[in-house]
Amino acid sequence: MLLKTTIPTLDHWKTAPSIDTLRSLYDASAEHWDDYLARLRQPLDYQLLFKSRAVRNGLSHLDHTSKILDCGVGTGAFSLALLDSIAHPVQVSGVDISYPMLTHAQQNLKNRCPALDLRWGDIRRLLFTDDSFDAIIFAHVLEHLADPVAALHELLRVLKPGAPLIGSVTRKGLGQVLMSLRWHNRGYASHQLDAFLQVAGLEAVQTFDYGTGWSKWMCIAAIGVKPRRAITVSSQH
Ligand SMILES: C[S@@+](CC[C@H](N)C(=O)[O-])C[C@H]1O[C@@H](n2cnc3c(N)ncnc32)[C@H](O)[C@@H]1O
Repeated sequence: MLLKTTIPTLDHWKTAPSIDTLRSLYDASAEHWDDYLARLRQPLDYQLLFKSRAVRNGLSHLDHTSKILDCGVGTGAFSLALLDSIAHPVQVSGVDISYPMLTHAQQNLKNRCPALDLRWGDIRRLLFTDDSFDAIIFAHVLEHLADPVAALHELLRVLKPGAPLIGSVTRKGLGQVLMSLRWHNRGYASHQLDAFLQVAGLEAVQTFDYGTGWSKWMCIAAIGVKPRRAITVSSQH
């Protein structure tokens, strides 16, 4: 008898999960998401990321009038780490497809910034005007998308020229393959993340490891800057 099994490989992620699949997954996880992050010590690692020299330099222009956007904001953990690392509170916008995640973000962020604007939506089609934000951040959302470069183009559209984009993704490897069985997430090698940001049109791109525990093994961070001149959008990537 021929036994057919599906063995996960490093390229296990073949088809992007539908938005409805992702939304149901995160709707159901919202209640325990902060506990899950705390067990992985992810909030601490996010703080270390925002304290790294590259990111501190990238955010040194922010003041209390600045607006940041957190894409795939979840319960707000990445924004909280940013707010903890800067001298002046900034105005925070966040977008997510999961309403329950946004409800927790509202609780977590409401007393932490002068203005909070959380929106239910898809980061691939942002309802903000061009050149709106002084910085854009994202943590662990790019690896859910079939076309990360197209999503980055949309993020760049709403980022001000000269402003930074800062993000964290899951590192490609065996740990990520195991994670993907539950979270449907892809993983990227640092040269892939670097290439995505460069092809999307960012300048001064740097990718680097961060954190002390889980994130040190499982995550990669990147920073890049939107050029001050117009970006030529390439259809090939
Ligand atoms: C792994 S969680 C990360 C949440 C948060 N950034 C953090 O670090 O805790 C991914 C989040 O991205 C959201 N998401 C997935 N695809 C999205 C999309 N296309 N547009 C907006 N949000 C999305 C999910 O609902 C979920 O809240």
